[in-house]
Amino acid sequence: MILVTGASGGVGREVCLRLAARGEHLLLSARDGLRLTVLAEQVRAAGGSAEVLPCDLRDQGAVQELTREVLTVHGTPQAVLSLAGHSIRRDLAESFGRPHDLVRLVGANMLGPATLLLGMLEAMCAGGDGRIVAVTSASARIPAPGWAAYGASKAGLDAWLRAVRPQAARQGVRIAIVELPLVATAMAVPTYGSAPRGALSPAQAAQRVLHALDAPRTLVSPVWARAGATLAQAAPVLSAAAAGRAGQLVRRMAARRGEERV
Ligand SMILES: NC(=O)c1ccc[n+]([C@@H]2O[C@H](COP(=O)([O-])OP(=O)(O)OC[C@H]3O[C@@H](n4cnc5c(N)ncnc54)[C@H](OP(=O)(O)O)[C@@H]3O)[C@@H](O)[C@H]2O)c1
Repeated sequence: MILVTGASGGVGREVCLRLAARGEHLLLSARDGLRLTVLAEQVRAAGGSAEVLPCDLRDQGAVQELTREVLTVHGTPQAVLSLAGHSIRRDLAESFGRPHDLVRLVGANMLGPATLLLGMLEAMCAGGDGRIVAVTSASARIPAPGWAAYGASKAGLDAWLRAVRPQAARQGVRIAIVELPLVATAMAVPTYGSAPRGALSPAQAAQRVLHALDAPRTLVSPVWARAGATLAQAAPVLSAAAAGRAGQLVRRMAARRGEERV
């Protein structure tokens, strides 16, 4: 049995349909129960089986309840795919007076996922087996203007996973991190439009997640993101300026196609 958060979204939905074709039993989680119910039917039609467990990861009580329900009703998952995420792009001047953006993003991208994974890790470590795949973002290790709150929330999850990984591994639980670049999903639309140039398709992103699940990998990340993370450590000011300019270029290209604001 595999627990998938963010199941209803672009990448998560693609991952679930591919797992369904393998005949997997899936626990589908996200906030929107209706979309999850529709997906569960598609999973069954594709050869898998599925249960729907709606949860808002920003709500610690709901996360505890999800943890309890998974472990007591369904048992310890063989794997957890932590794919849920929320993004907001805002420059510094637009962020003044909006500390709630930080609360929302840290809740959805760091505290909620880490709380859920902690509960799953306890059960998996006790059983001596399990696999966790968590999607962060290239911006977790390459800070960029406009992505301060999003990058910080993903960086927090990244640091937490890297710190717990060695001790989890000694208990038989493997943890893989997938740093995705831009993906053409609903998440990208407000900033880059519906068809951003150079973006992965949801299917391509799903392949990276499944590669992390199937292969003994600890990190799945584009080469440029690994190089960028090294540069961000060595020359943080230069790196952030370059990341900001690159993002602006992609947004300008989207705006030129008449899709989005700069
Ligand atoms: N798209 C990109 O360019 C990109 C780039 C790098 C990394 N990523 C990461 O890739 C992952 C998948 O994103 P995507 O591109 O597929 O985006 P998406 O289409 O917007 O899907 C996001 C998923 O997360 C769920 N979600 C959002 N907020 C939640 C909350 N508070 N509690 C529980 N579930 C929540 C959404 O479902 P509900 O709305 O029903 O809750 C949805 O299933 C995310 O972790 C994202 O940060 C995306």
